[in-house]
Amino acid sequence: MVLTGGGDCPGLNAVIRGIVKRASQENDWEVVGCIESFNGVLREPTEIEILDEKRVEGLQIQGGTIIGTTNKGGPFAWPVKQNDGTWTTVDRSDEMLRKLQYLGIDAVINIGGDGSQRISLGLYNKGLNIVGVPKTIDNDLSMTDYTFGFQTAVQICTDAIDKLVTTAASHNRVFIMEVMGRDAGWIALHSAIAGGADICLIPEIPYDINKVKAKIEQRYNKRRGYCIIVVAEGAMPKGGTVTGTETGEVGYQHVKLGGVGEQLAADLKEAGVEHDIRCTILGHLQRGGTPIAFDRVLATEFGVRAMEFVLEGRFGQMVAYHHPDIVGVSLEEAVRTPHLIDPNERLVHTAKGVGIEMGD
Ligand code: F6P
Repeated sequence: MVLTGGGDCPGLNAVIRGIVKRASQENDWEVVGCIESFNGVLREPTEIEILDEKRVEGLQIQGGTIIGTTNKGGPFAWPVKQNDGTWTTVDRSDEMLRKLQYLGIDAVINIGGDGSQRISLGLYNKGLNIVGVPKTIDNDLSMTDYTFGFQTAVQICTDAIDKLVTTAASHNRVFIMEVMGRDAGWIALHSAIAGGADICLIPEIPYDINKVKAKIEQRYNKRRGYCIIVVAEGAMPKGGTVTGTETGEVGYQHVKLGGVGEQLAADLKEAGVEHDIRCTILGHLQRGGTPIAFDRVLATEFGVRAMEFVLEGRFGQMVAYHHPDIVGVSLEEAVRTPHLIDPNERLVHTAKGVGIEMGD
């Protein structure tokens, strides 16, 4: 059984296709997809779908996930409404494992980010034959060089910077582009370098507003000039906190990040920047659409190897890209620490080397 959990990400369908195509080369394996992560098993009636070669034809191109996904709830924290109208969560993992057994599921491949792989680990510790596949546009899983979807998001952001440059230059404006990534600045840093941004603000390096202002002024000759700022949604000023809101959505366990771009614009105005400032929030455009070729290849490799891990009985592992190989790492290691940017790392050095102000 294959399932996709957490936020969607370009390349999920390519992984599913890789799994199904590899399984079809064996005589005695049938692949089913569980709808919306584990919810398809937890719901009554059960929502699972047979995935054969015909169903996955040409899927490497398609964004999203044909079996749906969710970043709410799950077998260990299933939301339940109480009599007084408030919500609580219950652990339905044992019940779910019994149901999987009843359905004759021999193995599960869970395609997802850190939250999903924590669920994989919990279920593996309870005896489930499970293999993880790392996905997220945020690239914040530490045991793989890259997660698929990340490079596509970077490409989308880079294309957006290319477009913003021409309008910024025409109007002598400061443009702030807010990108996703949660607590990791990978999307921001990669796209800032690729797009030739002037300033890049990431969660791992809290910024000094005066440094940002100074760089803006350096980009102008009196009133002529322009400036491109890429800010990660999780970035914050020195001594400040992240900008976000509680969604109030049942089972959603995160603060919804967003708004730092507009906040930065307001702070820059208050700090005395007189140029026009505009803010563009790319939002979910970074997650939609077709994966670029790199992600199609990586996702296909992950899918094929994940199926082979099942055939080899390598459960409790997550497939991972350790250039040039696809290897297995234990789920425990995979979720231990997030992959964040070290302020002393090579890519930050490169960014500073081409004059990008990081705000520190
Ligand atoms: O983890 C992927 C991600 O796109 C983050 O970059 C972002 O903060 C979050 O998901 C958005 O989640 P949602 O789709 O629930 O708004």
